Amino acid sequence: MSQVYENLGKISMILGSQWGDEGKGKLVDILSMKFDIIARSTGGANAGHTIYIPEKHVFHLIPSGMMHEGKLCVIGNGVVVHIPTLLEELDTLENSGISTERRLKISDRAHIVLDYHKKVDELQEDSKGGKKVGTTKRGIGPAYTDKVRRNGVRMHELLEFDKFEAKVRENLALFKSFYGDFEYDLDAELAQYKEYAERLRPMIADTSTYLHNQLAEGKTILIEGANGMMLDIDHGTYPFVTSSNATVGGALAGCGIPALKLNSCIGIMKAYTTRVGAGPFPSELHDALGEQIREQGGEYGATTGRPRRCGWFDAVVAQYSCRISGYSTVNLTKLDVLTGVPTLKIATSYSHNGEKLENFPANLDILDNIEVEYEDHEGWTEDISEIKDFDDLPENAQKYVKRIEELIETPIGFIGVGMKREQMIDR
Ligand code: GDP
Ligand code: IMO
Ligand code: MG
Repeated sequence: MSQVYENLGKISMILGSQWGDEGKGKLVDILSMKFDIIARSTGGANAGHTIYIPEKHVFHLIPSGMMHEGKLCVIGNGVVVHIPTLLEELDTLENSGISTERRLKISDRAHIVLDYHKKVDELQEDSKGGKKVGTTKRGIGPAYTDKVRRNGVRMHELLEFDKFEAKVRENLALFKSFYGDFEYDLDAELAQYKEYAERLRPMIADTSTYLHNQLAEGKTILIEGANGMMLDIDHGTYPFVTSSNATVGGALAGCGIPALKLNSCIGIMKAYTTRVGAGPFPSELHDALGEQIREQGGEYGATTGRPRRCGWFDAVVAQYSCRISGYSTVNLTKLDVLTGVPTLKIATSYSHNGEKLENFPANLDILDNIEVEYEDHEGWTEDISEIKDFDDLPENAQKYVKRIEELIETPIGFIGVGMKREQMIDR
């Protein structure tokens, strides 16, 4: 086992460091073999985490460690849960022969996404005309809005159904007072929730206490983040972001683990950049090469199927991301996708009105008018998808990785060279 595994410690975290879809699911699946408990802590069913073992599985709410029988999974308090999606995922797993029984605990403090949140997500997007965020329409924004407005419905409330029903009715009326009347069959939804409540009852728990107790017994925890740093509600390209903190603080709060207990934090970074949905993307490629990378990388949303926008690796974004979340190591993913691209570019700095910017700017008007400086790197043509040792990578691939490492001032401990579990170089 290489040093990078030794350094993970008892509590580790995996976070997206760009605009999501960096390949978090794959490393969570690999590292789940080394940890006892895998806990999702932020986001909701906007996430789509893909693993190939070798058949494809996409996780939206359930931690990507669920494929490893014997491991326990937790959905933390920071997640917003659409229960029908969760149950469908559980059923799919059961149907493919994975026993999930007594392996999932859901925080009693996690907020519930109801179908009216999805409806409102759609209404809000429709009202924005040309300024749409391009959300996943999974009701994420409206559910987190309820949470901060302090009228959200939490998992524990499902266990006292009469109170749950009254609150849901009140909330629907509130939304209708904001958005006008819309067609909605709440009675049918509530009838379903009555059944869901009984199925979920044994899974609903005080998960932060559970995690603390498990730690006291010597168990290890892998925290699975969702979305990505640049989609973070505070640090991302606001307002083209999701509605939670996808960075380290949000992921800790989202499962109730103290910052000083975290032993390591792994940033997942694609060897290029992608983004799905609207919003700024300084190193975006608008040409045939962007399309080629999309096809080679299979860059279509795991949740919505939308084509992902593709571009060069952006060191300004990566440096910003390292500063905010403080990764102890990075997993550079999808290096194989760049095979055959003759010249690779890395965005190294931004300038505005002739002046170099210190950081990724908050003001999107500035961002609209920046010049992006790039450096060029010679590519490689050899197939790297079966390579196990860093030293066996073509020289230009090694140089590319080392240059990124230098720019982000963070060790690259894992390098992805294909979709499958075994296609990961560690160093
Ligand atoms: P996540 O949301 O961060 O878990 O990432 P997604 O699952 O949305 O998207 C990442 C995609 O890239 C998935 O289809 C993965 O199977 C795939 N993937 C992950 N790592 C690698 C890699 O190193 N090489 C290749 N070719 N594909 C990868
Ligand atoms: P994973 O965990 C990529 C994007 C959406 C949209 C914006 C807001 O798979 O990396 P939302 O539905 O959250 O209100 O949408 O955020 N987005 C993601 N993009 N991967 C994700 O998750 C994302 N989760 C949200 O496309 O632009
Ligand atoms: Mg994804």
